Amino acid sequence: MDARVSEGPSLAGWSPPPAKPVFRLGRIHDPQNPLPQIIQAAYEKPVVRQSSALGAFYVVGDPDGVKRVFLDNVANYPKTDMERRLFGAIFGNGLLSSDGETWRSHRRIMAPPFAPPSVAAYAPGMAQDVADFQARWDQAPADQPIDVARDMTRLTLQMISRAVFATDGVALGEVMERSIAGATAATQVGLADFLPVLGPLRMTAREKRIAEVFAEFDAVVADLIAEREPSPGGGDLLSRLIAARDAETGCGMTAQEVRDQVVTIFVAGHETTAAAMAWVWYLLSQHPQAEARLHAELDAVLGGRSPAAGDLPNLGYTRMVVEEAMRLYPPAPGTSTRIALQADEICGVKIPKGALICVAPWVTHRHRLHWDRPETFEPERFSKENAAGRARFAYIPFGAGPRVCIGASLAMTEMMIVLATLAQRYRLALAPGHEVELFHQVTMRPKGGLPMIVSRR
Ligand code: HEM
Repeated sequence: MDARVSEGPSLAGWSPPPAKPVFRLGRIHDPQNPLPQIIQAAYEKPVVRQSSALGAFYVVGDPDGVKRVFLDNVANYPKTDMERRLFGAIFGNGLLSSDGETWRSHRRIMAPPFAPPSVAAYAPGMAQDVADFQARWDQAPADQPIDVARDMTRLTLQMISRAVFATDGVALGEVMERSIAGATAATQVGLADFLPVLGPLRMTAREKRIAEVFAEFDAVVADLIAEREPSPGGGDLLSRLIAARDAETGCGMTAQEVRDQVVTIFVAGHETTAAAMAWVWYLLSQHPQAEARLHAELDAVLGGRSPAAGDLPNLGYTRMVVEEAMRLYPPAPGTSTRIALQADEICGVKIPKGALICVAPWVTHRHRLHWDRPETFEPERFSKENAAGRARFAYIPFGAGPRVCIGASLAMTEMMIVLATLAQRYRLALAPGHEVELFHQVTMRPKGGLPMIVSRR
């Protein structure tokens, strides 16, 4: 709980939460931007029942409560049908949207390509992508801000394209962006979606629309899958996925199942890391002492060279900066809503059968019972000594339990390589007068981009 060095200004995005629920006609606790509607008590008590236009839901902010929902009694808390159908329309039976035996088998099949030895094999390609990206910032005008959030999306798209397909991300990224924009528009949910007859009809129309907007991306991915040779021990993630077999059943995945996983990985795996990196640059620009300490570590450990996977364990402060940025600005600030199949008790609060459960990293990471000075940027919180007494489930940027993010190790490797490479060469300053605001639509990014001036160190 102890954390030191409180420096810097108050940070973007935190305004006092409302004491009472805010109702908006036609919206269920505004799914596009739910965070500002979570009431103050959720940050102060372990579990809070909050009303919404749809009925009550329970915000579980306490680490013990998170453990109950995500691990100890996980079978009682599946994702809601609505969430699975919305994700399913985009990702088919990918890991984010599947459930039951299909999910279990696919998770086992996909574990090896995401395990640390496989991830280490993608690291040289990642380092190359960041090295190539530097040409872009080398040409950045000295007095004109550039959109760093957009640049991070470009870079992470390239990195995930190389890791998954061993291919250049630019063309694929453009197709992907069009599909995601169309799908995002089609997933806007309103109160009408919960009405008995109209709701299912709207859902069917929505699924059809999403299939249409993804047709172009699907065609590209189908070609890439068709031409790929299986390669269990090497190659890109796609080759490994095609070759992978379930250790229990000996079965692999069909072409359609591989497609669903690839789309899931592609979408889940680049916007999140891009958002995290945008917040890292923003926070460093506001905290010169932390930035200086980061520079000192990078100069001492790397001395100007590109980081390799073997360097990462020696970059302790670099890791702490990334971890603290994800505490304050979790790229996935809320997880999928869960539903209680049976009545239960969480941290002494009775949960009725059928209750909706919200576990939000945003709330848990700013919880008054578990974090000192929750609104300040203090990477030292994540030093071994300071983290030692902290509850394990107080920090959940990647979720927790069996459905923890499968890409966590890949994401950490990627973010550390990006930060260690670029911070050796550049300093970033927020464009004068620019006010950073939050934009939360599944991921949480700076609203309207992040204009910053890039200069060489
Ligand atoms: C900073 C980066 C990332 C963050 C913060 C993040 C966060 C999360 C969270 C919170 C969940 C759990 C959601 C829930 O329980 O409702 C999740 C699941 C998942 N993530 Fe990530 N993620 C990141 C990067 C990645 C990457 C790089 C990949 C793939 C390359 C990925 C693939 C997935 C998949 C497939 C799942 C579903 C796992 C399952 O249900 O079995 N994520 N992620």
